[in-house]
Amino acid sequence: MKILSLNANIEVYSGMKELNKADKALLKAAKKSLKDAYAPYSKFKVGAALRLKNGKVIIGNNQENASFPLTLCAERVAIFAAAAKYPTEAIEAIAITATSGSQVLDKPVTPCGSCRQVISESEFRFKQDIRVILYGEKGEVYVLNSIKDILPLTFDANFL
Ligand code: THU
Repeated sequence: MKILSLNANIEVYSGMKELNKADKALLKAAKKSLKDAYAPYSKFKVGAALRLKNGKVIIGNNQENASFPLTLCAERVAIFAAAAKYPTEAIEAIAITATSGSQVLDKPVTPCGSCRQVISESEFRFKQDIRVILYGEKGEVYVLNSIKDILPLTFDANFL
């Protein structure tokens, strides 16, 4: 037996101000988009914004449903909208942020497992790692250079 240790390098910024121009602009777009989330049940609004290789910025926000499992997360709304309109454009970066109905989010919000898998599929599809920018409402910003940092032992089409 041996131990397999998994290591992730996450860039931690003290706040939005410390980000480079491109990351800050994308995070601002994500923040702007969360106000249009449809989250009457959880009151947890999530905004996502992604930048494509052609420079276009596509936003998404969570869309809930009275039949709860039908809800779609902000990240997937943005990724699928981008893929529908620009099917040949790789995603360079995605920014994700949220507000909660019950607390101030002072730590970066991290994407759910399903969204990690969908972001991973996009990396695989376009053979390009995606920069992932994570923020709450205040405090630190986490930046990953690939979703694989928070989805180790990734399942992808190489297994099929
Ligand atoms: N949500 C997202 O939009 N993205 C995530 O990565 C995590 C969860 C949404 C789904 C639901 O509308 C609300 O947040 C609470 O789970």
